[in-house]
Amino acid sequence: MTDFEFKTIGWFVLRCTHFILGFILFGVIYYLGMFTSRVVREMDKDMRKAIVPNILPAYFHWLKWEALWTVLSGFALFFWKIVVLGHSFVLYSKYALFMLMGMSVTIGITFTIWFVILPLQDRILELTKHGEWTEELDSIVWRSRKFAHISSWLGILVVVFMVGANYFPYL
Ligand code: HEM
Repeated sequence: MTDFEFKTIGWFVLRCTHFILGFILFGVIYYLGMFTSRVVREMDKDMRKAIVPNILPAYFHWLKWEALWTVLSGFALFFWKIVVLGHSFVLYSKYALFMLMGMSVTIGITFTIWFVILPLQDRILELTKHGEWTEELDSIVWRSRKFAHISSWLGILVVVFMVGANYFPYL
């Protein structure tokens, strides 16, 4: 394999990995928001007690590390582009502005997942142990749903920034 092939294949593999991680992240977070609001609410007590503690922890684990891997894959891609492929990076450019906005929103979402959504989900787990639907559970479920849905909608914005970074060269 020539040096050129190695660099371009690496770029392709990293790029695909990055897209896939990003799309899965927003899929999982949207699903989690929906599951813990509508589905958990509609279940009867026995079903809730039986299903929620068995399903949610696997999602928590997945979501937590998926968010981190998406951010890391983005930085790896950035490193590859600038250092390995040797592209120039102009700080005061539309590319830098779009990238910075995409990165900041993603990092914000990752913090929200780690420090807001997952702690709320832990509480949901605790409160569903016995299956009853209480007022406290109701309010936590809606709060968590709100954050999960806002985060998944912001995902669309991130894609617009990421894709937009390479477009509109005249800007
Ligand atoms: C901190 C987080 C992130 C960083 C550092 C990052 C970084 C990058 C970099 C360096 C590129 C290559 C741009 C280029 O070709 O010049 C890229 C592309 C891309 N990223 Fe991200 N990214 C992040 C989060 C995300 C997320 C959450 C998504 C959501 C789905 C995403 C979707 C994309 C897409 C679709 C492209 C392809 C753009 C194109 O082909 O024009 N990124 N990202």
